[in-house]
Amino acid sequence: MSEPILRVKDVHKSFDETGVLHGVSLDIREGEVVVIVGPSGCGKSTLLRCINGLETIDRGEIFLRGEKISGRTKDLHLVRQKIGMVFQSYDLFPHMKVMDNLLLGPVRALGRPREEAEKEAMEMLARVGLREKADVYPRTLSGGQKQRVALVRAMMMHPEILLLDEITAALDPEMVSEVLNVVIDLARGGMTMAIVTHEMRFAEAVADEVLFLEDGVVVEQGPPEKFFHAPETERAQQFLKSFTYSFKKSEVQPKNNPED
Ligand SMILES: Nc1ncnc2c1ncn2[C@@H]1O[C@H](COP(=O)(O)OP(=O)(O)OP(=O)(O)O)[C@@H](O)[C@H]1O
Ligand SMILES: [Mg+2]
Repeated sequence: MSEPILRVKDVHKSFDETGVLHGVSLDIREGEVVVIVGPSGCGKSTLLRCINGLETIDRGEIFLRGEKISGRTKDLHLVRQKIGMVFQSYDLFPHMKVMDNLLLGPVRALGRPREEAEKEAMEMLARVGLREKADVYPRTLSGGQKQRVALVRAMMMHPEILLLDEITAALDPEMVSEVLNVVIDLARGGMTMAIVTHEMRFAEAVADEVLFLEDGVVVEQGPPEKFFHAPETERAQQFLKSFTYSFKKSEVQPKNNPED
């Protein structure tokens, strides 16, 4: 088997003596999508933040294409350029138009020729249905449009791997699918990703592997067919049950009043 793009090995992390991650390990191979699920506070965001060096780790090691990236103090920005990340909040620069947001990384940080990067940005905007939005300011975009731009911005850096942390959590329900479909499109295009989400249907559709985290420990791990339909641990079964119910509720169409 080929060497994984990302290798997380026995990572421990605490904040002020409170343990948050207790020995998490995870391998992601080229083109693979790993979805990380688990109850609120179990350490999902912390794990992603440790991977791209936003948090230091207490124990363990993290490798990107075989190169150790944890515990580094030098050249952290070079590592981050290879690891794209999109968060729940829209973190576009408000004073810059969409295109300038997209060119900042590739042109300023990577030194790519502006014209070439601009052409690529236009193609990517078109792919996510935002061809007309290159010249507007982020404040004029909907939440779903902003998150699609944020995805394009991350992709413009040609990252080795993309980390997504609940990127639809702040969106109105009707905008969720337009963003998740872009992610599914990226997955089909072979992008390697680690995705934290509470959207279980999406998780099942996009994942090659599911990681169920609870209290900073990997409780269950496996292919989506197995995890979502025949989970082994009681904890995973309970966790999934709560989702099944909320899904059913949200799916109930409002009753049509025949008088209307
Ligand atoms: N900077 C920090 N300082 C202190 N504690 C922190 C910090 N960041 C996270 N924590 C704590 O670590 C634990 C895990 O937080 P984390 O944000 O990783 O959870 P999560 O699984 O992403 O939850 P959610 O689904 O609600 O986003 C929580 O108890 C949280 O309070
Ligand atoms: Mg989180």
